[in-house]
Amino acid sequence: MENFTFWNPTKLIFGKGQLEALKTELPKYGKRVLLVYGGGSIKRNGLYEQVTNLLAEIGAEVFELSGVEPNPRLSTAERGIGICKAENIDFLLAVGGGSVIDCTKLIAAGAKYDGEAWDLVVKKAYATEALPFGTVLTIAATGSEMNSGSVITNWETQEKHGWGSSVTFPQFSILDPVNTFSLPKNQTIYGIVDMMSHVFEHYFHLEENTPYQDRMCESLLITVMETAPKLLNDLENYEYRSIILYSGTMALNGILNMGYAGDWATHNLEHAVSAVYDIPHGGGLAILFPHWMEHNLKVKPSRFKQLAVRVFNVDPQGKSDEEVGFEGINKLREFWNIIEAPSRLADYDIDDSKLELMADKAMVNGEFGKFAKLNKQDVLDIYQASL
Ligand code: NZQ
Ligand code: ZN
Repeated sequence: MENFTFWNPTKLIFGKGQLEALKTELPKYGKRVLLVYGGGSIKRNGLYEQVTNLLAEIGAEVFELSGVEPNPRLSTAERGIGICKAENIDFLLAVGGGSVIDCTKLIAAGAKYDGEAWDLVVKKAYATEALPFGTVLTIAATGSEMNSGSVITNWETQEKHGWGSSVTFPQFSILDPVNTFSLPKNQTIYGIVDMMSHVFEHYFHLEENTPYQDRMCESLLITVMETAPKLLNDLENYEYRSIILYSGTMALNGILNMGYAGDWATHNLEHAVSAVYDIPHGGGLAILFPHWMEHNLKVKPSRFKQLAVRVFNVDPQGKSDEEVGFEGINKLREFWNIIEAPSRLADYDIDDSKLELMADKAMVNGEFGKFAKLNKQDVLDIYQASL
């Protein structure tokens, strides 16, 4: 294990009816609130009305930024920063999924930064100050509700990058599984793939002596795989929604990966695909991850074997580590097929015409991946296999 410091200041408020907590949490930060949300799902499912009623009850002065895109764009965050600066906003409230929350993080930091917001995303500058913000989560997927990361797309230059700072943790996040009932089946699937992928990104590391961390990762995967098919047949089941919601947060809030750093290459590969084609993040991961695994099976077959045996119940008798690992990868493919996740780039009408461009985007900061370093040829091979 490596040395580590764990610090996560986000207050997590979980369960049915917890939206009421807004009344006690929000007034701590001031009256002028920027409400940030997406393309209208919260208006259709009634959450907008509930939130605005509560804000009225506490006498908040509400400003709005709506229309945050899935794969949130720099231009939208810049609009939000403009509102914060012009209106002297005290607090931001993100109501939505990872995209709304990520956009809110850039608005919060950008409002306290004098240069271009994009500087923060491309790490020309580090955010040392941000407006405080909270979230009301509506989709189990990214973990953004309890981490400091944010992923922003610059559509003009077709770039999508992750960034974060110690000042971009939400002050609080309200997670009521009921608020995820209206999430359609396809988005529910993408979220499930995303949280599983976060665990895989952690799991593939070269550190020794992480038995507890490994078992936490494995148990999260087993739990999600047990629950996902049941949830997908019963989208308004509170128990299933709550298991998945909690799992999504735990998969990327820093608790699973104390003492080691994971690989994260597949996320970089996916961000390059969605920078060019604007596809859903979880859909891209479902296509790419099995190919990343196959490509890197030889790096440390024992790691793949452990996953195959403990999570996918592969019988290792009489087989090499590599054979067992490979069976595990196929079991993952089988599971993602069962839950109807996409499996080929062709599912999004992506052909080989922009592979070079995507590879260049992925390589923008040079070779990447901690478990296995990928060079441009590796990237092209993985994209090619994913077609
Ligand atoms: O925009 P609205 O109308 O709200 O609709 C959204 C959106 O179309 C809809 N939705 C969300 N909750 C709903 C709902 N529809 C009905 N009922 C509900 N309760 O779902 C669609 C997708 O929402 P989005 O926020 O884009 O999904 P997600 O949470 O998966 O976020 C994806 C973004 O997060 C980034 C991704 O790259 C992508 O840009 N990531 C952020 C991370 C982080 N900050 O830690 C890590 C991740 O690995 C990821 O990269
Ligand atoms: Zn992800």
